[in-house]
Amino acid sequence: NVLILDFGSQYTQLIARRVRELNIFCEIKPYNKLPEDLSTYKAVVLSGSPYSVRGEDAPHPDLSQIQGKKPLLAVCYGAQYLAHFQGGNVAPSNTREYGRANLSFIKTNEPFFENVSTGSQVWMSHSDTIKDLPTNATLLASTNDVKNAAYKLEGEDTYAIQFHPEVYHSTDGKQLLENFLVHIAGVAQTWTPDSFVETTVAQLKEKIGTDKVILGLSGGVDSSVAAMLLHKAIGKNLHCIFVNNGLLRKDEFPSVLKQYEGMGLNVKGVDASARFLDELEGESDPEKKRKIIGRVFIEVFDDESHLVEDAKWLAQGTIYPDVIESVSATGGPSATIKSHHNVGGLPDFMKLSVVEPLRMLFKDEVRRVGASMGLDPLLLGRHPFPGPGLAIRILGDITREKVAILQEVDAIFINGLKDAGLYDKVWQAGAMLLPVNSVGVMGDERTYEKCVALRAVESTDGMTADWVNLPYEFLQKVSNDIINKVRGVNRVVYDISSKPPATIEWE
Ligand code: XMP
Repeated sequence: NVLILDFGSQYTQLIARRVRELNIFCEIKPYNKLPEDLSTYKAVVLSGSPYSVRGEDAPHPDLSQIQGKKPLLAVCYGAQYLAHFQGGNVAPSNTREYGRANLSFIKTNEPFFENVSTGSQVWMSHSDTIKDLPTNATLLASTNDVKNAAYKLEGEDTYAIQFHPEVYHSTDGKQLLENFLVHIAGVAQTWTPDSFVETTVAQLKEKIGTDKVILGLSGGVDSSVAAMLLHKAIGKNLHCIFVNNGLLRKDEFPSVLKQYEGMGLNVKGVDASARFLDELEGESDPEKKRKIIGRVFIEVFDDESHLVEDAKWLAQGTIYPDVIESVSATGGPSATIKSHHNVGGLPDFMKLSVVEPLRMLFKDEVRRVGASMGLDPLLLGRHPFPGPGLAIRILGDITREKVAILQEVDAIFINGLKDAGLYDKVWQAGAMLLPVNSVGVMGDERTYEKCVALRAVESTDGMTADWVNLPYEFLQKVSNDIINKVRGVNRVVYDISSKPPATIEWE
């Protein structure tokens, strides 16, 4: 296990990604929340930071339990931090030190730079520079602009690099991490999806014993994989609840429910469509729609969880990006994202103890874990779909008729993407029903009907996104199909807005 100490760099999660790619397990902790027990960590990595080590409010943690005692790799700010406190000199740099650079010097016979040659491209992003190394340091590498690009402290396994090995533009970055973690620190590369399943199932068995667990399935990847892990651990004591809010995709409720049953899950489908749609009647405001759906979901889930007698646990598909306590720009670590400690006034199911088997995994790792348990690739490759479902894709008020129209349109679009082999090339796609009617002509008749917008985006995390350049022929066919087959729609438009400034959903 490797510890990554976060000083607030935008790249800290990427360090974790790269380390995991080496099949090495790692955890990110904020610099000011150093775990008391460090015995399980075989090596420590210090991240970059937006701060200057010379700043008053910069992170200055006490590393006495780490430095010289465990293999330590300091990146960017970390490298400056070590230099600053070991008697070196860190000062503002005269030249810009951002973007690509090449290593012009590498010390020979240095295990840290094994299989890395001069000329290797590295990625710099810093405004301070290390003018002088500490006296007990040996220079390991330089670029043309940055003399002290990498150094080592003598007599200990402490390495420091000014550039970022975690970004893809540092071409040998992964090699350097491997050199440090595997060859110098001797960390075993045993973290694989199979081993994760094995150890997690064993831990869940141990933790839960014969208790009953409740889990809300959504049809998405995270809750499905979490359910499968728990199912392997405790079988029928896992009680899954899959709620139909009436705003799912066409036929999704029965087909996904059947799929869950086929996986052997103890799942109950609860069709609460009428309850949701009745409560939403007449509401046009996007945030109010979300609030109503959130509240009704909690009510339905609470009712259902009461039917499971003596349940002790609530399982959730929370994943690592939801959990990471990164250091905020103002210095203090941000609060935990989900808090279930405050039980006053919460629905009863929230008073259960929480179990989150995926809380250490990134999304792609969740998919790999799902695949290693034999989950259907179609389920694992499913596009993200918002909790409030079609409610936030029907602009204006929601009626059953509008839901039915949008389900048809969405099904033609999504099936069209699948038939054309485009579905997996798109991160998320869907259709919006607009609150405008427009004039058309069908046969010799004038029509005055609804307009739909199609949206397909590429993204990695939904935080930023760009519209996908779908082939004209594809758009032409889908538009034709929609207008010819869906009654009440006479116009189709394609959304060509990026996020930002637009969002993915229209509401
Ligand atoms: P936006 O529209 O903010 O969407 O660009 C980013 C991602 O989040 C999803 N989304 C939601 N998911 N409840 C959810 O569970 C919501 O209220 C919600 N709003 C947006 C959206 O589908 C996209 O993947």
